[in-house]
Parts: sequence; structure tokens; C-alpha cells
Amino acid sequence: MKTIVVANQKGGVGKTTVARHLAFYGAEQGLRVLAVDMDVQGNFSTTFKAIADENGFAAEQAKNPKEVLVASRLFGKDDGTRPVPCAERLDYVEADSGIVEVERRNLEQVIAAGQKRFAGLSSSYDVCVVDTGPAVSNLLVVALSVGDFAVSPCKPDRDAIAGLAGFFSNVVRVRDETGINPKLAPLGVLPNQVSKGRAYHRDVLGDMRAHWGAGVMPVVLYERAAIDVAKDRPVWRTERGESRNVAAKEMKTVCSFIYKRMGL
Ligand SMILES: Nc1ncnc2c1ncn2[C@@H]1O[C@H](COP(=O)(O)OP(=O)(O)OP(=O)(O)O)[C@@H](O)[C@H]1O
Ligand SMILES: [Mg+2]
Repeated sequence: MKTIVVANQKGGVGKTTVARHLAFYGAEQGLRVLAVDMDVQGNFSTTFKAIADENGFAAEQAKNPKEVLVASRLFGKDDGTRPVPCAERLDYVEADSGIVEVERRNLEQVIAAGQKRFAGLSSSYDVCVVDTGPAVSNLLVVALSVGDFAVSPCKPDRDAIAGLAGFFSNVVRVRDETGINPKLAPLGVLPNQVSKGRAYHRDVLGDMRAHWGAGVMPVVLYERAAIDVAKDRPVWRTERGESRNVAAKEMKTVCSFIYKRMGL
């Protein structure tokens, strides 16, 4: 199982949007996908709960709530709980309120338990997509500690660039300084909600590339109404609309690029 963590401590930059499309894309490619929501807001979970409902899996889960693996339990002892299936080749672990307590516990123990738990899940899945919340916190360090890869969606905005320094420093901390997770490979920053017609966006994107070099991905996501409505299905499966086809193509290009970089 290759685990990718979608992270940026800035809010509303497209983390959940990218995470859900990566999960959908992987399952459609025939990979066994595990989606893990580590953001207490639970937007990522809502998507998979809706799909589970649609596919009639939710009723099954309701029968055995004690067997359900929720995010906070990923960082404790293996208690036999399992991710919840919601579609073919797609299981999820929902965010629970306990996830915010995780970072208040002993960080070393939490990370050791998490790494063990993820290793235990790895034979059941090909890829795991982890969505994280918008905060500068140890929870981000915990998420990065279980990742093989990290990607950071980011809006083309001067303040967003400033915030990215925090993302890179967290990666360096987790990978190099503390040795918590030496295998973590940052895939870089994914510019999102880029507006083609806006000179400011072009300028900022240019600055980002000048500043971070190869740290900024060569692919981008544009601002598209069709992406905004694609919450419970990928944009390429939404109703045909003004920007659907072009948005679908762009999103698939990004997903395919990321999967290739992950060696999948
Ligand atoms: N390329 C895009 N085009 C149009 N709308 C987008 C695009 N990317 C994201 N959005 C919209 O922007 C909003 C924020 O996106 P999203 O929820 O993915 O951000 P986030 O980083 O996960 O936020 P948070 O930090 O709160 O978890 C959502 O309503 C989403 O539909
Ligand atoms: Mg989110």
C-alpha cells in the first residue's frame, strides 16, 4: 500500500477536493483504495458515507458499529476494527471527534502505533489517500508520519505561498530532522483554482515556480464550476454541464500525474 497525504495548513485550498478525486481515480483504475479522513470537519468522510448509503453499505455498518475503524483508532492499539466499504475497491475510515485528542497524547507513541496500524492495513490495499485539516498542528506531523508521499494543493495567492513554507518545514522535520519517517517523498505543490484570465494568478504562479522550482508540480487545476459541485462523485461522473468535460480532463490529468509519480 502506498500512502499519499494531502496537506496544507491553509484552509479551503482544495485538499479534500484533490483527496476525493485521487480516491475515485484509483478505484476506477482497478486499485484497492483506502480513504482516511484525519480532518475533524469530516468533509472527506461525508463523501464516502453518501456513497455507502447509495450502495446500501451503510445499513450493514450500522449493525456492527463496534467493528468500525474511525480515524482516532488508527493511532492506538489494533482493536480489530476495520475500514468501512462504500463501493467496489473503495473503503474508508471516517474522522471522529477523538482525532483532535490524538495530538495531545505522547507524539512518539501515537506515531509508532499509527505506523504499525498502517503497516497492518497495507496488505489489503494498493493505495491509501489521507485527507488532513487546515491547522498548524502536531496532527499534521502525525499524518505525514504514515505517508509515503505528500501533495499540497495551493491557491495562487501571495499569502498562500507564505503558508507553504510551513508545509515544507513540516516535511523536512518529519523526514530529515527527527527521522520519524525517512521514506516520505513530497510530490510538491499543486496549484489549484487557477483562473486562466487573471493576470494576477499568472504572476503569482510564475513567482511560485521561481520560488519553489521543482517543488511546484508541472500540472495545475483551474477554477471550474463542475469541480465545485463534484462532492459525492468525481467530476468526470457529474451531470454534463458548461465546464464538465474540460474540468474532467484536467482533473484526470492531475490524478494520472500523481499516480505515476507514486509508481502506480
Ligand atoms: N478547482 C476548483 N474549482 C472550483 N471549485 C473548487 C476547486 N477546488 C476546490 N473548489 C471548491 O473550494 C472549496 C474548498 O475546497 P476544499 O474543501 O477541497 O478545500 P480544503 O483545503 O479541503 O478545505 P479545508 O481546509 O476546510 O479542509 C470547496 O467548496 C470546493 O468545491
Ligand atoms: Mg478539507
